[in-house]
Order: sequence, then structure tokens, then C-alpha cells
Amino acid sequence: MTILLRASALDAFYGDFQALFGVNFQIARGEIVAVIGANGAGKSTLLKSIAGLIDNRHDALRWGDEAIGDRPAAEVVRLGIALVPEGRQLFPSLTVEENLLVGAYCGLRSAPWDLTSVYDAFPVLRERRDSRVTVLSGGQQQMVAIGRALMSNPTLLLCDEISLGLAPIVVEDIYRMLARIRDGGTAVVVVEQDIVRALKSADRFYCLQEGRIRLSGTPSEADSDTITAAYFGT
Ligand SMILES: Nc1ncnc2c1ncn2[C@@H]1O[C@H](COP(=O)(O)OP(=O)(O)OP(=O)(O)O)[C@@H](O)[C@H]1O
Ligand SMILES: [Mg+2]
Repeated sequence: MTILLRASALDAFYGDFQALFGVNFQIARGEIVAVIGANGAGKSTLLKSIAGLIDNRHDALRWGDEAIGDRPAAEVVRLGIALVPEGRQLFPSLTVEENLLVGAYCGLRSAPWDLTSVYDAFPVLRERRDSRVTVLSGGQQQMVAIGRALMSNPTLLLCDEISLGLAPIVVEDIYRMLARIRDGGTAVVVVEQDIVRALKSADRFYCLQEGRIRLSGTPSEADSDTITAAYFGT
């Protein structure tokens, strides 16, 4: 098993406020790892730390043998780590295709994802390529956000609450796509508040509570009472 990314004793701060406490986390090639936890547990902070949007201790994050805790976001993208941010954060004045092309901007990495393969993965986006993203449905906008991240050809894809507010059938489509992305060799982290949805697709999971990992393992080895206790802190 090749460990792609390892967080060791990761602390994260917003000014004086500490949001993560000594988090140990790892993900290997070919895994979907779910990070679950209630509102404010620190899920987005963990993803933002990995993505270089929050500055961390140099050696708190390792990408292979390289310490990357203090790398800026643009460099992290070039290493092969892409974030689908909470709330999608698309460029509202741009078309579907222009939004996708923004994702390739940082890229020195060129395979296998390009406009053609993203459109093959999400055919509806090909039909709507010249539409402004604001006229798309929520599910289609989420596909643009995922496609934009894929355009940088990541080895590790970080997805923050991609199912929030979407119809169940659309969520199933998106998760099917994530499994295909994983099977193609890209590791995937999914952050979810929906425990059931997250555990259905994940190979392993971590449960965060108030900035600390309370539980981790495989979905099959944890019973629902234990998970509920780690999630709610009861
Ligand atoms: N920019 C910020 N400035 C100050 N505190 C922040 C900031 N962003 C998050 N926090 C705080 O850090 C903690 C963790 O927040 P985070 O957004 O990582 O949680 P989360 O698990 O993603 O929650 P949610 O499910 O609501 O998205 C919370 O207490 C939150 O209030
Ligand atoms: Mg969040």
C-alpha cells in the first residue's frame, strides 16, 4: 500500500483559535476515505490544511517523503492535490467550459483528465458547455466543481460536502463517478455530514469531533452506536 499523504500531529489555527488538535490521518493510492463529523468538527479545516489554504507546521503534512505543511495552495495543486471546496465556489460570470479550464491553469500535469474526458464523465456538461454556470442545477454545478478539480489531474482529490442540498439520485450519480475516479488510480477524500452516505462508498473513515479524531477504521468494522457516539460525543 503506497501512502500518498500523511498528517502527523496536525494542529490548525485561525488566529488564536485552534480548530484541529493533533490529527493523525493518512490516505493511500486507490482509497476513498470519508471524514465525517458534526457542524464545526474541523472537517473543512482538515481539507484546507491539506490543500495549502491554511498554513501548518512544515512536517505536519507529508506528501510521499516531502514535508508540505507550509506549501502555498498553488504549489500543492502542482504536486497533485485538488480541492472541490465547500459551496463549490464556481466563477459565476463564466461558462461551464471556462470554469473547467480554470482548473487546468495551474497544471503542469496533463493526463488523463482534459475537457474531453471530463465531458465523457459528465455528458450533461458537454451539452451545457456554453451556459453560464449560474443557470445550471445544483447537481450540474457540483459536477462542474468536480470537473474543474479533475482538470488539474490530481493524484488526490479532496471533496468537501459535495452531496449537500442535492437530490438523492444526483448524489448517487456523483458517488458512482467518485468510485470510477478512485478505480482510475486517484485517491479521494470525501467530507460528509451524512454518515450513511459517506460510509456506503468509503474504504475507510475518520470521525472528527471538536477538532480531534475520535474514531477511525473501515465501515464494516464499526457498529452504528460506536460511530454515533464518536460523531455526537455522547
Ligand atoms: N475562517 C475562520 N475563522 C475562524 N474560525 C473558523 C474559520 N473557519 C472555521 N472556523 C472554526 O473552526 C472550527 C472548525 O470549522 P470547520 O469549518 O473546519 O468545520 P466543519 O467540520 O467543516 O463544519 P461544517 O460541517 O459546518 O462545514 C469551527 O469551530 C469553526 O467555527
Ligand atoms: Mg465544513
